[in-house]
Amino acid sequence: MNFAHTIISWQKKFGRHDLPWQEELSSYRVWISEIMLQQTQVATVKFYFIRFIQRFPDASSLAKAPLDDVLSLWAGLGYYRRAQHLHTAAQIVHEQYQGEVPTDPTILVTLPGIGQSTAHAIASIAGNLPYAILDANVKRVLARFLGIRDDVEQNSVKSDLFTQAQALMPQDNCRIYTQGMMDLGATVCTKNPTCTICPIQKDCVAQKKHWQLLIPLKKKKKTKPTRLKYYLLAYNEENILLVKRSDQTIWSNLWCLPEFTSEIELNDFIPSAYTGAFYNLTELRHAFTHFHLRLIPVLVDSSVLDFTWPANIHKIPLKSLSDYGLPAPIEKILNSRIIAT
Ligand code: ADE
Repeated sequence: MNFAHTIISWQKKFGRHDLPWQEELSSYRVWISEIMLQQTQVATVKFYFIRFIQRFPDASSLAKAPLDDVLSLWAGLGYYRRAQHLHTAAQIVHEQYQGEVPTDPTILVTLPGIGQSTAHAIASIAGNLPYAILDANVKRVLARFLGIRDDVEQNSVKSDLFTQAQALMPQDNCRIYTQGMMDLGATVCTKNPTCTICPIQKDCVAQKKHWQLLIPLKKKKKTKPTRLKYYLLAYNEENILLVKRSDQTIWSNLWCLPEFTSEIELNDFIPSAYTGAFYNLTELRHAFTHFHLRLIPVLVDSSVLDFTWPANIHKIPLKSLSDYGLPAPIEKILNSRIIAT
């Protein structure tokens, strides 16, 4: 079996051909889609990709836009550092590469937010160049095919896999091959694979040895710590109090409800002239890569909007809320309280 040839024929027949970024495989569009797809499902990315490209059709328009505009289109996708990196990288592309996103992976990896696999995805899909990718899907396909039972996240194993991936990479039809590897991982060689319809089943070590469910090796998950935060929810019919976050570890540069680490800290923040109540609303949970966040919205009555607030607290008109990039759980709190009431 010629591995690459098999993958290419399979992709043409059974792969995905109607993804929005496939309509025109320019290096800019492929770059945006690959960054969005790094931590987010295809089904979610589709809508965000179309809207993003309408607003920023090329690297120069993205470079010239205020970061706030980029973040507001990213709101809900999570991992906001990706949007900041995109914005910085677009400025570099605008200034140093005449607004044309390069397809040379050695240049691509110098841009913020682009690692080796993403650089290779852009080079092979947009440039049709022979650079192999190794994202989570492809790692699973190759580890099973080659019967690798070691931890594929270990650096030495990953580096071996990259070498093997590069050795299997064809010189022609690179974009179809790369898409085929991604499609096979996403639709056939999944967590519970459908080996009977797999084009490479005959030569697959995992299939022969019944190791499909042993590969990739599952590591014991460390339990994530939980952090508890309180969010001040203060609004009237017209305005809501929000803060613009600075370079914090989460949600940096997004707009947010004022955040506190304890109820006392929140209480102390409200001017002592306030005579109204504090209502702890239903708690929300949100999972981050390294911890869980428990969010407790604390509702105060609208009289607090009449107080004078520090400069970092902004009274934002409710009717323009959609222009502000809000973290998904904060948006959830606002939707349940404000839009619905
Ligand atoms: N995930 C990462 N890149 C992708 C692509 N080009 N198509 C589908 N899923 C992907």
